[in-house]
Amino acid sequence: MTMMKKLQASAAAIALSTTAVAAQEVEVLHWWTSGGEAAAVGTLRDALAGGGVGWVDMPVAGGGGSDAMTVLRARVTAGDPPTAVQMLGFSIQDWAAEGSLANLNDLAAEQGWADVVPDALQRFSTYDGNWVAAPVNVHSTNWVWANTALMAELGIDQPTDWDGFVAALQAAQDAGYTALAHGGQAWQDATIFDSMVMGVGGPEFYQASMVDLDPEALGSDMMVEAFNRMETLRGFVDDNFSGRDWNLASAMVINGEALFQIMGDWAKGEFVNAGQTAGDEFTCFRVPGTEGTVTFNSDQFAMFNVTDASAQAAQTEMASAVMSPEFQITFNLVKGSVPARTDIPSDQFDMCGQMGMAQLAEAAAGGTLFGSMAHGHANNPSVQNAMYDVITAHFNGEYDAETAAAELVTAVELAM
Ligand code: BGC
Repeated sequence: MTMMKKLQASAAAIALSTTAVAAQEVEVLHWWTSGGEAAAVGTLRDALAGGGVGWVDMPVAGGGGSDAMTVLRARVTAGDPPTAVQMLGFSIQDWAAEGSLANLNDLAAEQGWADVVPDALQRFSTYDGNWVAAPVNVHSTNWVWANTALMAELGIDQPTDWDGFVAALQAAQDAGYTALAHGGQAWQDATIFDSMVMGVGGPEFYQASMVDLDPEALGSDMMVEAFNRMETLRGFVDDNFSGRDWNLASAMVINGEALFQIMGDWAKGEFVNAGQTAGDEFTCFRVPGTEGTVTFNSDQFAMFNVTDASAQAAQTEMASAVMSPEFQITFNLVKGSVPARTDIPSDQFDMCGQMGMAQLAEAAAGGTLFGSMAHGHANNPSVQNAMYDVITAHFNGEYDAETAAAELVTAVELAM
């Protein structure tokens, strides 16, 4: 074979293999970049590989997904959307309204999604009666993660009310520990705020302020009290909290530098990834004052409209893998969340997972299940971002509690 022929042959072989790979690939945009999250991504990548679908990774760090959504917008504007995107609540609805999402009705009907996905999730997975996203989990934000050895050393029992929680934080601080592990990033401040609003005012107040955006509730004395509690918490973080990533805050509890972290149950993924066991080295309980309620968010995969038939086939394969009962167990054991299907047994889950599953079902049945504002399930992204700005400005001392509540009213009004 002449040199030219050899070159042509190898170019053809490369082209062939590229086509073969491209035929079975999904490019996935997500914000799962911590140790526990990466382990969870690994289970999805493996499940897809088992079905012959390759994975092109597009990670964009930042909890709550605001940064990922900015990158997504840029990609779509440039005419190059990723095939599959991790998405939360109202963002799914926005993209569906723009007509950008693929219709998953055939697969959903074939696999009976409507019978096993709870209504609170379907409200976001469907748009105009069509399935536009496949939910992989349910997280909730009103959790405390605690170092049990430190609790024992300090003689702290699990707090059952706000005063008890503050007393425990005080005991840790007095003993020279960081009482509350926290990272000063807007979405983390907002994650804590979910629980302060619920803890102060209960379900009705959460609904009125975070979901209905009633200006009276937003500017009320109860909202001032929620901000007061944020100030109390601010007094228990360490000097280096500003800008710290959430998983580094989890590591402080894991390593025994800090007593508590208030964070969604993706934090459990970090403890598990560090080889720790719920009920042993760490424990979990609902943020005191929010017991009986659940503020949730569900990670869903939305598929962007693509014309290429092989890419569409890969999307269907991915949605199918995400919804498989076995996969929902494997994934959620690692991720720290609970399954997005109601037909999954809880026996393989640890103490926190079993509590999470039972409480989710109870809250859904009892009308105390609410979308997390911090994680895009209470209101639309522009209102959410307006709330983030006020919450963070207050946490950093720019506003006192009264001013913050007043600013919240104005910011929400402008963003609506
Ligand atoms: C997502 C979780 C993720 C967390 C931190 C949340 O918005 O729902 O899956 O682990 O952010 O990155």
